[in-house]
Amino acid sequence: MFRVAVLASGSGSNLQALIDKLHRKVADIEIALVLSDRPGALALERAERADIPTAVFPPDAYPTREAHDLALAEAVETADVSLVVLAGYMRLLGPAFLDRFPWRVINLHPALLPSFPGVDGIGDAIRYGVKVTGVTVHFVDQGVDTGPIIRQECLPVHDRDTVTSLAERIHALEHRVLPRTVELMATGRVKPPRPGERRVFVDDSAPGFVEGQDFGR
Ligand code: GRF
Repeated sequence: MFRVAVLASGSGSNLQALIDKLHRKVADIEIALVLSDRPGALALERAERADIPTAVFPPDAYPTREAHDLALAEAVETADVSLVVLAGYMRLLGPAFLDRFPWRVINLHPALLPSFPGVDGIGDAIRYGVKVTGVTVHFVDQGVDTGPIIRQECLPVHDRDTVTSLAERIHALEHRVLPRTVELMATGRVKPPRPGERRVFVDDSAPGFVEGQDFGR
């Protein structure tokens, strides 16, 4: 089994996509644990509905950020997972967490990095006036959305778009790009960069299991 932990703070629609497209269906992938910093997060309900264990770590229950990171790291380590996916997890993780899982933590961002990092990638892109935007999955380092890029897919911004209409298309794209990336990682097709470099090499030549999509090959 390729065990995955998902960290989510919000609605968890991307967690849902991982559950629907991958969980116990593909390449022996199992979402083994869902963690949140927010007690009421809808993501937790989605996990419970799929019988996936959950745990909540409210940051104000810990004296420091490091203590919070350590508690999360313990939970992830105990679950014995191969990959940690940040899917709408709204807090930065520090070295106390990240150093324990080198090249095993990935994040989903709703813009084409390095453009529009931070909390409002969709709004920032539309206000800037770009004509093309998209989604990025990247390894997590200690910066804000700065880690080496694993996969990006783009879509056009139309004149008639509002933040809401663009967000809808971005989310639909996310719901296939993230599961596909996790599938590629689970099947050993993602090579982390060499020391001191940033390029990630991805063997995307085999057909995917993630249903009915042409992933731009
Ligand atoms: C996604 O747009 C993701 O790119 C960003 O947070 C959002 C999470 O959405 N990091 P959801 O909670 O998966 O619905």
